Amino acid sequence: MTSSEILQQWQDKWTAGEPRWHINHVDTHLQKYIDQLTGGNSGQHILVPLCGRSLDLKWLVDQGHSVVGVEISTGAASGIFSDAGLSPKVTLVNSNLTLYEACEGRLKVFAGDMLCVSSDICGPFDCIWDKNSFGAISPADRERYVDICHSLLKPQGRILMFAYVYNQSERNGPPFSISTDLLKSTNGERYNIDCLESVDAVEKKKIFQLSSMEYAIHFLTSKM
Ligand SMILES: C[S@@+](CC[C@H](N)C(=O)[O-])C[C@H]1O[C@@H](n2cnc3c(N)ncnc32)[C@H](O)[C@@H]1O
Repeated sequence: MTSSEILQQWQDKWTAGEPRWHINHVDTHLQKYIDQLTGGNSGQHILVPLCGRSLDLKWLVDQGHSVVGVEISTGAASGIFSDAGLSPKVTLVNSNLTLYEACEGRLKVFAGDMLCVSSDICGPFDCIWDKNSFGAISPADRERYVDICHSLLKPQGRILMFAYVYNQSERNGPPFSISTDLLKSTNGERYNIDCLESVDAVEKKKIFQLSSMEYAIHFLTSKM
């Protein structure tokens, strides 16, 4: 499947209705580990790649941070604002990206392909909240995704990551399995990688008919 076909599939999932990964509340793990993500600092500049229609972005803004999301589905990107009762300013950045912004520029969402985002468009960021994002990227694009995220992060940047872990031979993604070992092989040269929590994903395991499935919260801190 080509990259544009994969992106079309994601957009079709949004067009078909509310996708099953979407939750109608702020992520509890983000709330639990917010101090790790921000280093306990106020006014952080936070990137949320592949953000869907997540309520996490507005919550982060309400905590005093400035947030940039990136999402291929225009409906999901604009939905972040309508869910919050906001009327965003909309600007065409280039042929690949449209910018939605509100809250005096502290809430921005680029509608477009994350793999088309570069440091001349946004950043640098203090931290990244990667919720089901790395695990949504096809393996062929992983290296590019990792490089882009790294290029957007400040030298002392931090990444908090939520991802599923299972035996990849039992099912093709997305979500793709993101184990600690896979993270070390893809990000280990640049980041220290700690698994903060790993929990049996009881419901998802049933849905995907897997012998075992966990979700893991990893924390990546820059080695430089
Ligand atoms: C598994 S969902 C996770 C969404 C969100 N992080 C959450 O947890 O609610 C992955 C999201 O990434 C979007 N997406 C997939 N590939 C993308 C890409 N290359 N650039 C931007 N968005 C993408 C999809 O449309 C989808 O909303």
